[in-house]
Amino acid sequence: MKYSLIVVLSFFMLSACSAPEQVVHKASLATQNEVSIGQSAVAMPDAFSADVAQQIMLDGGNAIDAAIAAQFVLAVTLPEAGNIGGGGFMLVYKDKESDFIDYREQAPLAAHRDMYLDAHGDVVPYQSVIGILSSGVPGTVAGMWLAHEKYGTLPWKDLVDPAVKLAIEGFVMPQKLAGYISRYSKRLKDKGFDVNFDDYFASAKAGEVFKQPELGATLALIRDEGRDGFYKGKTAKIIADFMANNKGLITEQDLAEYEAKARQPISAKWREYDVLTSPPPSSGGIAIIQWLTMYDQLTKGKDKLEHNSAPYVHLLAEAGKRVFADRAEYLGDPDFVQVPVSELIDPDYIAKRGANISMDSISVTELIKPGLKESEETTHFSIIDKWGNAVSNTTTINLGFGSGVVVEGAGFLLNDEMDDFSAKPGVANVFGAVGGEANEIHPKKRMLSSMTPTIVLKDGKVSVVTGSPGGTTIISSVYTSILNALEFNMSAQETVDAPRFHHQLLPKDVIRYQDGLTPQTVKTLEDMGYTMNNNRFGDLHTIINRDGQLDAGSESHGRGKSIVF
Ligand code: GLY
Repeated sequence: MKYSLIVVLSFFMLSACSAPEQVVHKASLATQNEVSIGQSAVAMPDAFSADVAQQIMLDGGNAIDAAIAAQFVLAVTLPEAGNIGGGGFMLVYKDKESDFIDYREQAPLAAHRDMYLDAHGDVVPYQSVIGILSSGVPGTVAGMWLAHEKYGTLPWKDLVDPAVKLAIEGFVMPQKLAGYISRYSKRLKDKGFDVNFDDYFASAKAGEVFKQPELGATLALIRDEGRDGFYKGKTAKIIADFMANNKGLITEQDLAEYEAKARQPISAKWREYDVLTSPPPSSGGIAIIQWLTMYDQLTKGKDKLEHNSAPYVHLLAEAGKRVFADRAEYLGDPDFVQVPVSELIDPDYIAKRGANISMDSISVTELIKPGLKESEETTHFSIIDKWGNAVSNTTTINLGFGSGVVVEGAGFLLNDEMDDFSAKPGVANVFGAVGGEANEIHPKKRMLSSMTPTIVLKDGKVSVVTGSPGGTTIISSVYTSILNALEFNMSAQETVDAPRFHHQLLPKDVIRYQDGLTPQTVKTLEDMGYTMNNNRFGDLHTIINRDGQLDAGSESHGRGKSIVF
């Protein structure tokens, strides 16, 4: 590749992940005599969204009402990933039926396959990750509108209004967010990127009230006019004019034609559980089913591997190699390419894929081919209401603070989701993921995602609700959280805080891991030939139902808050 992936990664991922301050985390467990009926829980990426989601449910709203309100609050209080300028996936389990609302961004009508290549056919550095050309058509408002039409019980206005107030009246800027904004701003300057991020965020000071009047006005239009308050009329015109004046691609027609889509979630048996998870255009659902199934197949009849021991990490890294080889070849927007979902999650196929894994040595990366033919940012929340309904919602503007571009006059940050397409076959995106034809750019196509909101059921009741940000590492955060909760019986807090690791085929034999793996485990893996890259990732928000007792956890390193009530 023409430009250095390492440079791009370090720019965005350091900005997205470093969180030096001590976190205030609150997780509460309900008392032992409470039962699941009547008990609710939220596990959210910040305290503002947690408090609003709780209040909506105390006011009689269900989990979907709470999710919609939280999504809009996060657009105000978690600007690095919460959004109205991006997209996401909402997995719903309501009255024993499941649904998946795909509000992923899509390529503008004027986009084309080679739009990020120069005259020599090389990828133009940074163009798909920073600045106005990196944005797909936002899907969030349409997604929330569809969720409300299908499942909402409280008035739409009541769900958007808390966000309007937080934007107009302001909120006290958390120290961590202020630090993140200033590091991001410095890096933009250091790299010479010409975006207007500072015009909107440079005034943020820790401990002081931070107001966003333009965003407040945009949210007020959404509150008062619903979906059309964003995709038509004043806001649509502001977005289209801003694009036209700055050589961007998104037009009023792009906005008017955007539709959120309800899709069938992937549902697969794993042990005594039914795993409900994300279908394409997410790659994550197929990946976690492959990963969990391969783990069981390769450990069956053997002594249980010690959590986070070298053999455990190695086995799951080997599985990951195969998972990501399939991801690169087969996965894309199902409205444009045929994704062989049932073949990819067929246990017999998965058994064949894992058959040549050795516990003693690393398989040769170059020989791992797709199987059928032979800021990093984002944010997630999990909710269960007192009726036992659940929402697992992951939303994103891609890297921390997205494209770095704020729509002038509308006050919201635009995504840089176009980088999740494959700009050129075999050339890695910012997450190091490669892709081919299935994920090439096409007008109105949705870029492949790793977002994996997931709900695990046991006997029709919600057992685990989980999800995380983190680009391709999302998939590892999600499947390891399921293993932590259900294989290792950890509490929700232990589940989200246990050190994790991630391997994705490329870069070759590199395992990314978090502090907490023992030095002995790291050394054993290095001796096997792995390069161990200590670089934390993700921000899990998980709720576990243990025999009617809810337990919720939000990662201690972040700004999250979880409540059982
Ligand atoms: N933008 C990260 C993802 O959707 O995978």
